[in-house]
Amino acid sequence: MTELELIKKAKEAAKMAYVPYSHFTVGAALLCKNGKIYTGCNIENAAYSPTNCAERTAFFKAISEGEKNFEAIAIVGGKSCNFTDYCTPCGVCRQVMAEFCSKDFRVILGKNGEDFRVITLRNLLPDSFTLKE
Ligand code: THU
Repeated sequence: MTELELIKKAKEAAKMAYVPYSHFTVGAALLCKNGKIYTGCNIENAAYSPTNCAERTAFFKAISEGEKNFEAIAIVGGKSCNFTDYCTPCGVCRQVMAEFCSKDFRVILGKNGEDFRVITLRNLLPDSFTLKE
């Protein structure tokens, strides 16, 4: 599974985003160490705070299916599936990643075209709070 293949799955997932309030569509594709992929989109709510980010949708789908080992996640985000810039994960999603992933977990940021960036969780959330290690 190449970075661009995973980004393509994130772009597909973004089409499912439920975003009547922000119109900001986000898609994520989470690659497990066993090769399985779980996708997610953001799901908004009229009360705002129940909104779930695409990354957490993907993680919670995977974890609820028994997955525990994660390799990488591809993320795309932009207004109405126009991914003009990289979309970095919010702080809450970074904390969820820190709960389930090692510091070497790779976060792949995609956008329109074929450019992408890769950041490790180590660099995205240094000194994260965890009860493990
Ligand atoms: N959003 C995500 O899905 N992931 C992030 O990491 C950042 C924000 C969503 C939440 C909301 O539906 C929309 O983007 C605008 O904030």
